[in-house]
Parts: sequence; structure tokens; C-alpha cells
Amino acid sequence: MKRRRNLGSPTGRIALIHALAHIELNAIDLGWDIVARFSGEGLPQAFFDDWVGVAVEEAEHFALLEARLAALGAAYGDLPAHDGLWEAAASTAHDLLARLAVVPLVLEARGLDVTPAMMRRLERAGDLESAAILERLYRDEIGHVAVGARWFAEICRARGLDPAPTFRDLVSRHFTGALKPPFNHAAREAAGMPEAFYAAPADGG
Ligand SMILES: [Fe+2]
Ligand SMILES: [Fe+2]
Repeated sequence: MKRRRNLGSPTGRIALIHALAHIELNAIDLGWDIVARFSGEGLPQAFFDDWVGVAVEEAEHFALLEARLAALGAAYGDLPAHDGLWEAAASTAHDLLARLAVVPLVLEARGLDVTPAMMRRLERAGDLESAAILERLYRDEIGHVAVGARWFAEICRARGLDPAPTFRDLVSRHFTGALKPPFNHAAREAAGMPEAFYAAPADGG
């Protein structure tokens, strides 16, 4: 799934939009999963309001991409899709802090890193409609990372944990990939995600 798609061809653009629609569909489920799974932990109402808001936006994202696929003569379900996001949900189902570290703060933050280049490639290919949808998603996803960062900080404080080392420890235990640059520092900062979370230690280790 990692091969670089040729966005100059309709087939390549359909493959990209289909892959993004699959991510958004999983994101809807992840939004509701965090609401339901951690409902017994005495969290404040604002926690649930935030994640319901995220789930609603993820549904809007899926609908936008589904409509774009239809305009390109395709439909969600036409192509195979990977299960990585749901595997992340399963591997962090036991602990809210692990879920927040891996889903919004690794996977959604990664979306912020890669989306601007995708938008530029779509624009170069002349697909301004798809680029405009990605722009909308990108703005909303900064908000989703912000929700993740806010609650990660809040729960660390409640548990008396130091956020940055806690984040790195949870990621090393529950995320199989690596945190890879280039990072979109501006978007991550706009989301309130401290650079200490993801910057490599000074010794490179
Ligand atoms: Fe989304
Ligand atoms: Fe999101």
C-alpha cells in the first residue's frame, strides 16, 4: 500500500481517494469507540462532547470522499483496504492514554505531516476538487490532534505522569512503526502537540 500512486491518472486518483475514505470510515468507528469504551472511567462530559464532535466530522469527511469517488465513477468498497487503523484500536483498547498516544497523536498527526504534499500533487494533476476536500479535512484534523493532545495532557496530570516521556513510552510499547520525519511542525504546534513528544533525542538514540 506504500507505493506512490500516479495521480496524473484517474485510476491513481481513485486509489488515493479510496484509501483516504477507508481511513475516514475507520476514524468514525474510532471516535465512537473512545466514547463507548472509556465511558466507565469517570471522565468529564467535555471529554465525550469532544469525541462525539470528532466522530461527526469524520463522518462528514467520509461523505465528502464518497461523493468524490462517485464523481470519478467509483465507489467505496471497489478496492481492497488495509486494517492498520483498527489494529491500533485493538492494541490500545486496554488503556485510554495508550489510545490517545497512538491514534490522535501518532496516526492523525501523521496525517498532518503528509496531507499538504498530497494536496499539492492533486493540484498539479489538475484535480482541484479533490485537493479542496483534502484542504477541508486537513483543517479539521488539526482540531482532532488538538483534542487528543488536550486530553492526553489532562489525563497525564490526573495520573501524576510526565507527558513527554509517558507519550514516548506508550508509543514504543503499542505502536509498531517508527515516528518518522519530516514532521509538519506548524500544524503540530497549532494542535498543541509539544515537539518534545516526537523530536528525536539530541543523541540520536
Ligand atoms: Fe477525518
Ligand atoms: Fe480525524
